[in-house]
Amino acid sequence: MAVYKVVTMPDEVLRAEARPVNKINEGVFRVLDNMKDTLYAENGVGLAAPQIGISKRLVVIDTGDNYMELINPQVIEKEGEEIASEGCLSVPGIVGIVKRAEKVVVKALNRQGEEMTLEGTGLLARAFQHEIDHLDGILFIDKAIETSKEPI
Ligand code: CO
Repeated sequence: MAVYKVVTMPDEVLRAEARPVNKINEGVFRVLDNMKDTLYAENGVGLAAPQIGISKRLVVIDTGDNYMELINPQVIEKEGEEIASEGCLSVPGIVGIVKRAEKVVVKALNRQGEEMTLEGTGLLARAFQHEIDHLDGILFIDKAIETSKEPI
């Protein structure tokens, strides 16, 4: 078990386009295990590999009822609109109001290299979109309608 230090703005790794995972091997498993530990240590809803300084297309998410790991995830369908506030471990102290699709369908690989299709609405849809944006160097503050300091 290992908890990574979460990279924060303005670290350039957060702005890079992350590389796809070509080989799912022990190294990838180790990164996912440590991302999971880091997610829970930081009480996050999701974490993308660039946030721990690794520019690879890996995401872990737990919105409270289901832990999931996504390798090379892609949003393949979007539906509806929802405006809600969000924050990010890499942008500490800031919250923003962001418009996202209300429902998304995501395609990704699991540890066995099998393709999964996942559907999310509400918070899970938001987490999918927020974390997959990280893989393209996009932060929620880029899309926020407004931002403010986190209430104390
Ligand atoms: Co984030």
